Amino acid sequence: MDTTLPPGADGVPTADAGGRAMPLIGFGTHPMRGDQATEAVLTALSVGYRLVDTATRYRNEAAVGAALAATDLPRSDLFVTTKMPPDQVGRERLTLERSLAALGCDYLDLWLIHWPPGGYPGVTSWREFVRAREEGLVRAIGVSNYSVALIDALHEETGVYPAVNQVQWGPGDHDPDFAEAMRRRGVVLSAHSPLRSTDLDHPVLVDIARRYDRSARDIVLAWNLCHRVAVTVKSAHRDRMERNLSAVGLTLSPADVEAIDGLSTAVTAR
Ligand SMILES: NC(=O)c1ccc[n+]([C@@H]2O[C@H](COP(=O)([O-])OP(=O)(O)OC[C@H]3O[C@@H](n4cnc5c(N)ncnc54)[C@H](OP(=O)(O)O)[C@@H]3O)[C@@H](O)[C@H]2O)c1
Repeated sequence: MDTTLPPGADGVPTADAGGRAMPLIGFGTHPMRGDQATEAVLTALSVGYRLVDTATRYRNEAAVGAALAATDLPRSDLFVTTKMPPDQVGRERLTLERSLAALGCDYLDLWLIHWPPGGYPGVTSWREFVRAREEGLVRAIGVSNYSVALIDALHEETGVYPAVNQVQWGPGDHDPDFAEAMRRRGVVLSAHSPLRSTDLDHPVLVDIARRYDRSARDIVLAWNLCHRVAVTVKSAHRDRMERNLSAVGLTLSPADVEAIDGLSTAVTAR
């Protein structure tokens, strides 16, 4: 296994999300709102994050939009992700227009169905997502918290796979069959809550962290990146944002990656 990552623009490696270069590490904004969210996004951009992850459900799109308006960075350098809550089935276009207005954007880089509507694939929504992409309102479309079966159902009905599936993904969730299923379908696996979902005191992580002279959090982020899993990580603090971003430069040995894989408690195929 090659665990080294080639740097992309700004030193952050990218994945191909439906033809869009998606930074492999992104800044999560939940549960921040208002001025705190605006300040945090501006700080994140200033320390080097280029992907900002929000959602209609977070009620912070306008606060994120204020940061996007205030930054000196050109829009083309930014990667803006938001998500449609499934209770908006039937109101997809209106939800998208509201997200774009709140974010102050002409287009989204990535629009996700936040979770499967009622546990179903959400084919009618997916058709609207495809249409929005064809019209240029969104560059890439994807899903979140979807199983392989639900993704296949979308593809069977529309011929279009999601570019991205954002799921909770830390060492405890590691499931090579699921990761391989995403890879074979050309779906970028994107991790949310990589730190929050992890037992950071696990002796395996503590030992590896000690040997690299890094924190267990750094190791978890680097482990995801070594697997080419995109990570979305949140902190309200500049020093932690910097610290988390620095995981991009940390290459773990294949043996250490394998040891962390072994912490998986995933028992059933998703
Ligand atoms: N698609 C979905 O269904 C879904 C679900 C959940 C989350 N998400 C997205 O994924 C993002 C990240 O997930 P998450 O926020 O749940 O979890 P996370 O990023 O794994 O962890 C965030 C927590 O870790 C703390 N933290 C972060 N870096 C730290 C560091 N270096 N040292 C010490 N503490 C640190 C943060 O506290 P401080 O802020 O105080 O530093 C916060 O309490 C969210 O913000 C959201 O954008 C998506």
